[in-house]
Amino acid sequence: MSAADLTGAVLERLQATPDPRLREVMTALVRHLHGFVAEVGLSRDEWLAAIRFLTATGQISTDQRQEFILLSDTLGVSMLVDLLAEPAESGRAGFATETTVLGPFYVEHSPAREYGASIAERPSGEPAWYTGRVTDTDGNPIAGATLDVWQNADDMLYAVQNPDSPPDNLRGVFRTREDGSFAFLGVRPTDYPIPADGPVGRLLARTGRHPWRPAHIHVIVSAPGYQTVATHIFDADSRYLTSDAVFAVKSSLVRTFERHEPGSGPAPDGVPPGEPWYSLRHDFRLGRAPG
Ligand code: BEZ
Ligand code: FE
Repeated sequence: MSAADLTGAVLERLQATPDPRLREVMTALVRHLHGFVAEVGLSRDEWLAAIRFLTATGQISTDQRQEFILLSDTLGVSMLVDLLAEPAESGRAGFATETTVLGPFYVEHSPAREYGASIAERPSGEPAWYTGRVTDTDGNPIAGATLDVWQNADDMLYAVQNPDSPPDNLRGVFRTREDGSFAFLGVRPTDYPIPADGPVGRLLARTGRHPWRPAHIHVIVSAPGYQTVATHIFDADSRYLTSDAVFAVKSSLVRTFERHEPGSGPAPDGVPPGEPWYSLRHDFRLGRAPG
């Protein structure tokens, strides 16, 4: 039997799959998988190493840690799925805000917080005042839109990664006002490495890659009747914008933090007196939900 005969036999067997989409996906998967194995001439030892790698990826995964998603992220697959799901025009004027990876540190049920409130429940970095508006794609304000935000602290960790952190630190759910505006006090995010102590981290190291992500905050923006946008705002000053470990940077999501020296003007509530702070403005546009 030749390699082509074997591939053909597997593909033929799959023709019995009743669900047409599953048949299409499995057929393409087997074609590409066999093509890959044949192209690289995968040895028995390499095949076993791959099985061990996938086994370790499963074994280190828990409710708190999803190593398979990390693998997908670092291979660019998560962003490929994101790109295919999104209209090519997203991010341009008149179209919805671009989406990007959700990441493993999203936790549902963040506390509801008032307009202008702080998400920092303890000192967590340099204060940053985030403002903007949520509109439809024509620029009309969306009142009552929800912003679910989470970010890391100056120790580079999200609250969910840090047993010493108050669980709701640097997380919060905000609602836009009548004019679509929102405001909250957070901190300036820091560059941080994705979890690199497991099989994915070892693969990054073996392939000469660093595990760093450029500083960003996460926001999920939603409103009834509109398509939800899960996205980031990236810090324009980060040195990792061009080498994000998970390929998630889109230029329309990069913003510059403006620095304010103490005494240079009124500071938002919650900024400790005598400390510098930052401000960042970013508007979100939501497209209509289909149907
Ligand atoms: C994050 O931004 O939180 C993230 C995204 C992908 C992998 C690891 C972390
Ligand atoms: Fe993140």
